[in-house]
Order: sequence, then C-alpha cells, then structure tokens
Amino acid sequence: MLWTVLLALLVLLLLQTHLSVCLRELRSGVSSSPASISSSSPSSSSPPSSSSNNATQQRQPGAIIIGVRKGGTRALLEMLNLHPDVEVAKAEVHYFNVEEHYRRGLAWYKTQMPFTLPGQLTVEKTPGYFAAPQVPARVWAMNPAVRLLLIVRDPAERLVSDYTQVLHNRLTRHKPYLPLEELLLNEGRIDPGYKALHRSLYHQHLARWLEVFPMDQIHVVDGDALIKDPFPELRKAERFLNLPPKISPNNFYYNTTKGFYCLLSAGHDKCLDESKGRPHAPLSTQAFKKLCRYFRKPNKLFFEMVGRSFPWC
Ligand code: A3P
Repeated sequence: MLWTVLLALLVLLLLQTHLSVCLRELRSGVSSSPASISSSSPSSSSPPSSSSNNATQQRQPGAIIIGVRKGGTRALLEMLNLHPDVEVAKAEVHYFNVEEHYRRGLAWYKTQMPFTLPGQLTVEKTPGYFAAPQVPARVWAMNPAVRLLLIVRDPAERLVSDYTQVLHNRLTRHKPYLPLEELLLNEGRIDPGYKALHRSLYHQHLARWLEVFPMDQIHVVDGDALIKDPFPELRKAERFLNLPPKISPNNFYYNTTKGFYCLLSAGHDKCLDESKGRPHAPLSTQAFKKLCRYFRKPNKLFFEMVGRSFPWC
C-alpha cells in the first residue's frame, strides 16, 4: 500500500516537472508575439493573453514604476513589457495609496498581478504612489529589496499635461473646468496651492522615499529622452533591473501620424492610446515663463538628490 502511494507521488512529481518545462518552452515561444504586446494595453478588455494562461503563478512585483504622473509611466511600462523576462500588471493597481485597497492585504495585491514563471520579473505602475506620503514605508514593508523606477519630465510640461488630462476627463463628463491660467495664477503670481503644481515638486516627494529607500534602489528615467529616443532609456532600465539586454532599437519606430515612437515586436506594431501624447491645453508664454522660474529652485534641489541634472526650462 505504502509503495503504491509513494509510486503515485513520484509519478505526480515527474508530471509536474514535465509540465513546467513545457510551459517554459511555450512561454519563450510567445514572449515577443503580438499577443504579449497588445495584452498590455491599459484599455484592453480582452481575455488574458496566452502567456498568462500558460504561466504558473501571480507574484508580488519585483519592480514598481512609482511615478511621476504624466511623466511617461505607461510608455515605460509597455516598453519594459517587450522584454521576454518581464510581465506587467495591465491596469494601475493603486494598492499602497488607496486605503480600501491596502486593507485588502498582499493576497489581494497579488491577484492584480500577471501570471509569471519563476525567474520572470513582475512590474506594476501606479504614478499616484510617488506623491502619496504613506506609500514608501508600505512598499518597504512589502519588500525592502524591491526596485523602484521613477520617470520624470520637465515639471512645467508635466503640469500642463496633468491639467490637460483633468480637463479632458471633466469635459467627457460634461463638467466645466477653469482655464489653466486661472488655476495656476493668483493675482498674477504662481499659486502654490494648485495641486498639479505640488505634484511637480519632485524633490519634496523624493525626499520622503529617500527616508526609506537608498538612492541606488531608485532608477530615474528621463521621460523627455524616452519621448525622443526610447531605446537608450530602456537599455539603462534593463541594466538597473538586472535583465539581460533583449530590447533592441528594432522594437521601436517613429510614427509620424502619432508624432511619437510606437512599439514593434514580431512585425506587429502598437502605439499608445490617444490619451497619451494629445495636444496640451493653451497657456500663455508669460505664464509658462513664470512657471519655469518658479521651478528653478525645486529642480536644483531635485538634481542634487539624484546626482544628475536635466535640461528643463
Ligand atoms: P502628453 O500626453 O502630455 O504628451 P503617463 O503615461 O505617465 O500618463 O504619461 C503620458 C505621457 O507619456 C504623454 O504626455 C507623452 O508625452 C509621454 N510619452 C512618452 N513616450 C510616449 C510614446 N511613445 N507615445 C505616447 N506618449 C508617450
């Protein structure tokens, strides 16, 4: 009797090993297929991609894109997803910054993640993490070794992009919204109370992360450079994430209609949706200059923190 049970267990073990080898082979066959690219679309309502059907387990992320909002977080996530060893959470999870989600615990968080094989890297992006004070300690509590990616962009441009997104959301819900200049200026001077302005004060938010994480665990991606030429930024991100260099310049092509780089894999292409790279709401040159002047000192503080500078206005 005991021998029969032992034999059955042995057969089961062999079957499991065989299955996991098959899955790995299947996975490497589809990793750069169009399915794995289109499955990462934020607005996609399609069923799980074949790669997730064939994979084994949902795991907590080994890397998180923490921000900044409107910095190019979606582009970075989609581009990282080109790598065969990376799987990404399609939607923003807002686990660490939304109390209702955080209360659900890590088990719930994991259910928001893609299925992966051992050795694959899970990545999620929630730009709201960067400016939320409670988040750094919570991320650390989950995994003090997690790698953090922060994609930044000229803070003045980011602010206008932020405003444009809110304006667009309000208009689609048939709600009115004040012109940017009215929100930004108070008696001709920059109003520090404007929320989108506060989100562009990168040094303040980064200071909170640096109370918890060392700087070498945070990789700063240049969002403006990613727009102009994505490949060099992706190569640096691969290096930071300890990934073998698999993403190549051939994974990108400039789409003249969109005015941005789009992704190319196995002969199939994908551009980010129309909410990314849309025309910005108008702002007078005078107001924009005031904005640039306002950010000069905060930018300097940010450059000191990250040990490099950016050609911002
Ligand atoms: P704009 O819409 O202001 O141009 P996020 O994904 O964090 O919301 O950032 C959106 C920004 O990503 C866009 O801001 C756009 O400039 C930038 N971006 C970077 N690379 C892009 C790409 N290849 N296609 C579209 N947008 C891209």
